[in-house]
Order: sequence, then C-alpha cells, then structure tokens
Amino acid sequence: MRTQVAIVGAGPSGLLLGQLLFKAGVSNVIVERQSAAHVLSRIRAGVLEQVAVDLLDECGVGARMRREGLVHHGIELLFKGARHRIDMHGLTGGKSVTVYGQTEVTHDLMDARQAQGLETVYDAGDTVTLHDFDGTHPKVRYVKDGAAHEIECDFIAGCDGFHGVSRASAPAHLLKTYEKVYPFGWLGVLADVPPVSPELIYANTERGFALCSMRSHTRSRYYVQVPSQDKVESWSDDAFWNELRTRLDPAARERLITGPSIEKSIAPLRSFVAEPMRFGRLFLAGDAAHIVPPTGAKGLNLAATDVRYLSNALVEHYRDRDSHGIDHYSEVCLRRVWKAVRFSWWFTSLMHKFPETGEFGQKVQEAELDYLVNSRAASTSLAENYVGLPL
Ligand code: APR
Ligand code: PHB
Repeated sequence: MRTQVAIVGAGPSGLLLGQLLFKAGVSNVIVERQSAAHVLSRIRAGVLEQVAVDLLDECGVGARMRREGLVHHGIELLFKGARHRIDMHGLTGGKSVTVYGQTEVTHDLMDARQAQGLETVYDAGDTVTLHDFDGTHPKVRYVKDGAAHEIECDFIAGCDGFHGVSRASAPAHLLKTYEKVYPFGWLGVLADVPPVSPELIYANTERGFALCSMRSHTRSRYYVQVPSQDKVESWSDDAFWNELRTRLDPAARERLITGPSIEKSIAPLRSFVAEPMRFGRLFLAGDAAHIVPPTGAKGLNLAATDVRYLSNALVEHYRDRDSHGIDHYSEVCLRRVWKAVRFSWWFTSLMHKFPETGEFGQKVQEAELDYLVNSRAASTSLAENYVGLPL
C-alpha cells in the first residue's frame, strides 16, 4: 500500500491530523493498535481551548460540539473552605473554554473518517514497526490477521501516545527526555448526576485536591487526589462520594447529588517532554511527545496544537514545495509545549497535597491562592494560561 502520510495511532492527534490532511488533499492511512471500540472506551479530560474548537470546525466535525458543548467563562478555586471565581472571560478580553469530552471528540472524528471512506487499520496490536525515516522512503509495517503488510509513504506521523512505538523508534542518541512523576494520582468517577455547580471547581484542601467537572447538565465527572499506590478496586462508590464531600465547601456539600459510577479509574500524574519532536521524516505529535498532569486541562489542547503545526507544515511541503514548516516543526511546538508544561506543573503544585511539605506547604499554598484570587495580575496570568496562550 502507498500513501503520502502514514499515521500511527487513532487517538485525537492521529484522527485530527488525518482529517486536516484529507481536507487539503493529502492522502493518509492510520494504523491503530486497538479496536475502535477500545479507543472510544477511554475516558479522558474534557476542556477544549479555542484552538481545539477551531480545529474541529475546520475539520468539518464541529457541529455536535457546538450543539452539546458547554461554553464556560470562568472557573472556581476552593481553598480554606470557600470558593472564589476566576472570571476568565473578563480577564482575557472575552475568551472562554468549551467543556466537551475527549471521547466525544474522538467519536466525531471517527465518524467523519468513516463517512469519507478513509483507510484506518484497527487491531494491529503490537506489530507496528517504523522503517527508513532517516531517508526519503519511510515505511510502516504491521501484521493483521496473520498477514504482513507494508505502507510506503513520504512521512510518518507518530500519534501513538505515551506508550507508543514511534518515540521508541527514534535513535536513542538523538532523543532527550525530561520527566517528573508526582507521588499521587487522580481517582475519577463519571456518573449520571447533575453537576454540583455550573462551572468547574478546583479544590485545595488539607485532605488533598478535588475537582468537580462535567460532561453535560446531567452527567458529572469528579476527581479526588489519592496516593499513587491506591488501587481502584479498594474505592467503593460510597467511599469516593464521602471523600469528595469532605473536600467541598458547605454549600457544594449540600448540593452534591451522588449516584452509581459509570466509570471509575485512577490516573497517575506525570510531566514528560521528549526533544526533538522530529527525526528526519518521522514526526511526534500529542502524548507521544509530551504528557502534562491534567490539572491545567492541557493534554488534548497541546495535541491539537501540534497537529495544527504539523498539518500546516505538510500541506506547505506538498502545495508550495516549502520545507520551512517541516524544518521548524519541533522548535515551534516545543516552545508552546514547555509553556503548557510549566503551567500544568505550577497549577498541580499549587492545588495538591504534597506529603513531604507538610503543614508549612499547605500554608504557603493558601497564601498563594489568597494572592491569586485577590490580585488582578495574578488572576489574569491564570486565566490566560487556562484558556490557552496564543499560537
Ligand atoms: N501502534 C499503533 N497504535 C498505537 C501503538 C502502536 N504501537 N501504541 C499506541 N497506539 C495508539 C493507542 O491505542 C491510542 O489509540 O495510539 C493512540 C494514541 O492516542 P492517545 O493516547 O489518546 O494520544 P493522542 O492522540 O496524542 O491524544 C492526546 O490524549 O491522553 C490524552 O491528555 C491526553 O488529551 C490528550 C490526548
Ligand atoms: C475533566 O472533565 O475530565 C477534566 C476537566 C478539567 C481538568 C481535568 C479533567 O483540569
């Protein structure tokens, strides 16, 4: 099989890239380890910056997001038992975020890809290998149903997430990675209950962080910080709701409606960056190149920005015979990536309980939060990072 761009991974990065390339007349094939149903079963974050909203519109898949997504103009910070609103819209000159689950984004992109009859190979398992991307004729090989296949291409896009084969295929002597692992995770519950509050609540408490988020007016997504070693099996629904309740302010505690969990899982927290993001004709995009802790809701948005830059670069190459975008892809992405890594690390450090810093750490966090909600300059800094820095 021959295509212009072979894309490894059918998560949001790979699907978005495939759609943008298709719109520009660049052929592409996606090879995915899992089944489509498995990809759709993963519950991830749900806050879209304008850049991601615009990209979905440009891909022609924005209609349902426009209909069902919830536009949020602010967030609430809860500390020392009281909530304080950050007016993102007012502080950023009218910017907002759209709350729309990543699962829905993936669904919409998959539907569009199928409707257009674009080739996606699912269930390739761990058989995918990348070849010759240091030359001009890269190849992606995989085995499906016992038969070996080869895709000849001009470029390979490694959109295969943190555990994928693409970054692992980069020459070790050219790759440098930076990593910080946090000593806690997020226990998340999805439930068909109305959200406790119309906007997201990020809570700093002496028992640890909590987040009240949502997917719709009738479906909530809640998280509590738990030690890394905790097992999801040891958290009953009741135990989760009781813990969440203790981390809320009295009014929210009163309003909280609980119900059976539809999904419950523990996500570890990590900051990770791989440099560079291009090796010859292999590009890394999204979680394949970087991970941020979810506190800043930046994971999907960073993936969208990488894909924005990568599709522009590839289209320029084919349409204008111009390699500027390709040559600067890594540098341009990393500049933005590190700012989001910095913001996500800062917001994580401010909101979570760090066992090693004790009561002193808690007091310093509370002082910073007090400053943050009372200083227009500090609130503006939070707001402009949260809604997304300009491209
Ligand atoms: N071969 C083919 N596909 C693979 C391989 C492999 N060896 N390894 C992983 N994959 C697939 C995964 O099964 C997954 O469907 O690549 C896809 C990667 O998708 P994501 O992990 O969702 O990564 P990405 O598309 O970059 O999306 C980033 O996901 O983790 C969140 O917060 C993150 O929202 C952000 C978004
Ligand atoms: C979510 O809705 O899952 C969510 C929202 C905001 C975050 C992280 C996760 O910062």
